[in-house]
Amino acid sequence: MTEQQNVYPVREDFATNAWADNEKYLAMYQQSVDDPAAFWAEQAKRLDWIKAPTRVKNTSFASNNVDIRWFEDGELNASVNCLDRHLEQRGEQTAIIWEGDDPNESKALTYRELHARTCQVANALKELGVKKGDTVTLYMPMIPEAAMAMLACARIGAIHSVVFGGFSPDALAQRIVDSQSKVVITADESVRGGKRVPLKDNVDAALTRQGTDVAEKVLVVQRTGGEIDWKEGRDVWFHELVDRQATDCVPEAMNAEDPLFILYTSGSTGAPKGLKHTTGGYLLQAAMTHQYVFDYKDGEVYWCSADVGWVTGHSYIVYGPLANGAITLMFEGVPSYPTNGRLGEVVDKHKVAILYTSPTAVRALMAHGNNVMDSSKRDSLRLLGSVGEPINPEAWEWFYRVIGNSKCPIVDTWWQTETGGIMISPLPGAIDLKPGSATRPFFGVQPALVDNEGRLLEGATEGNLVILDSWPGQARTIWKNHERFVQTYFSTYEGMYFTGDGCRRDEDGYYWITGRVDDVINVSGHRMGTAEIESSLVAHEAVAEAAVVGYPHDIKGQGIYIYVTLGDEYEPSDELKKELTQWVRKDIGPIASPDVIQWAPSLPKTRSGKIMRRILRKIAANECEGLGDTSTLADPSVVDELIANRVNR
Ligand code: WT7
Repeated sequence: MTEQQNVYPVREDFATNAWADNEKYLAMYQQSVDDPAAFWAEQAKRLDWIKAPTRVKNTSFASNNVDIRWFEDGELNASVNCLDRHLEQRGEQTAIIWEGDDPNESKALTYRELHARTCQVANALKELGVKKGDTVTLYMPMIPEAAMAMLACARIGAIHSVVFGGFSPDALAQRIVDSQSKVVITADESVRGGKRVPLKDNVDAALTRQGTDVAEKVLVVQRTGGEIDWKEGRDVWFHELVDRQATDCVPEAMNAEDPLFILYTSGSTGAPKGLKHTTGGYLLQAAMTHQYVFDYKDGEVYWCSADVGWVTGHSYIVYGPLANGAITLMFEGVPSYPTNGRLGEVVDKHKVAILYTSPTAVRALMAHGNNVMDSSKRDSLRLLGSVGEPINPEAWEWFYRVIGNSKCPIVDTWWQTETGGIMISPLPGAIDLKPGSATRPFFGVQPALVDNEGRLLEGATEGNLVILDSWPGQARTIWKNHERFVQTYFSTYEGMYFTGDGCRRDEDGYYWITGRVDDVINVSGHRMGTAEIESSLVAHEAVAEAAVVGYPHDIKGQGIYIYVTLGDEYEPSDELKKELTQWVRKDIGPIASPDVIQWAPSLPKTRSGKIMRRILRKIAANECEGLGDTSTLADPSVVDELIANRVNR
């Protein structure tokens, strides 16, 4: 079926004016894989270096020696690249347009203002005792102060760890402890969809957890003026400390391989992993992909609707666009508030040319029908982008037709927290589009498909997606756990980076991501480990055992389906379902809310006691025919019971 889909050829005007047409893409791609060192040495010139690198690529994917270095003798400062170097040419140009949750609230900051304010925050952090190499946790709303805080850390060589504002106090505490953050930056409250989220209360709660006394100071932005508790000696008002600082701050000279940030993400097992990204390679990848994939031209308003708490916000709200001197829009709210027309209204209000959003957002709007976009014209749009999960062809077509008025190419960008920047995506002036396909690799990216034994598969086929060689924006390690880094990404298939995704390649060499092949689920573009949710559930006294799987969900892509075996003395009830739902929300955060809970007197297990998730996934997906081989089950009747009591959704 997919083979017969529409193809959208590159538009003539794009091919003529884009940064790369097809010929240029092919030539640059070829050079990037034939001679990566020469290619990236040339590309590195797009950054301002304090000391230009002479060594370009020094990388090994061998499982006994995973070691990744790019530009290892170069020195630079990321905040200088995002701010200072633009001051002469475009100091008075807008850097950040901020659109508040309330449609009556918005403001713009020029590069000069953002520079001055960032320097003040940097000086404030120094006054709080933050030094080069220290980590700082950010737990913030979508406000310009979040970008300032990130860049301020970069300026003084501190490592930021941004934690999404929707995470619970426990999840926050875990990340503060793991990263050993000395300072936490937060706000009194955040505002989303007219509702307030008590960020400072959550920080207070987090800092009562064991091990968090490493965090000596809490810097608090006053966003709403809502009532909060105050701990003398620990809590500091952002405006009181920052306003009185000098508006310049000498940037630290950072080695290209010095860490820029840690970002936590979920894997198939264990606690969230802090991926470490470094300064030179990451920034180069973010800047270059932002220019080519979004075909960014000077003066255009570019809007990435992600949250800065995710890697998409890091690379494509802050670092990529600002390194390119772009105008980046930061939106505090949600597409459904005050009405479902908001997304288009924001586009019209700020004359947005490039809109980068998620399949979930598109599907949620699509569910409201074509009229949902009637309150806006969106004629400023030139290009659309999608990220975070596979976009189904129907949603792609709707995005194209209704949001983009059938005139904007869509770049479906595949990448990961681990990759730092976009890896597989069309370049809009170069690659014909096929709805649902992330299409072709970016410069320097060598994707391949392997079977379960790691044998390379050729031609049109389906398999596990691996990357054969390093790229500059790649995460270098897991914070303080290199062994786990090697184990997770480099030991499944020797000498290759394993993405965790399944993928199909068609006869034109286009890549179609089919979704995770490990125990990671992707709910509304938010990545979660099923093991994390399971360990939260079994910590509840009523739960003897739990198994969590994803199932196809019309809007969220995947929903969370939970099988729970209760302890002997507990009875199933709707109250208990509610309680367990609340339990997980409180423990991890609202993004981990179960969609379906099924009581399971027992779970399908092999004779060695391993839960057969394959079967649970099928039942949750309502694919009860053809469950495959169940002969290895210790007790096959368990499956019939689960099918009979499947929860209708
Ligand atoms: C996982 C990474 C990349 C920033 C946001 C998510 C899935 C991401 C696509 C896409 C199909 C996609 C993959 C990937 N994914 N983009 N365009 N098409 N799947 O980052 O939280 O690290 O999640 O998201 O499964 O492995 P993340």
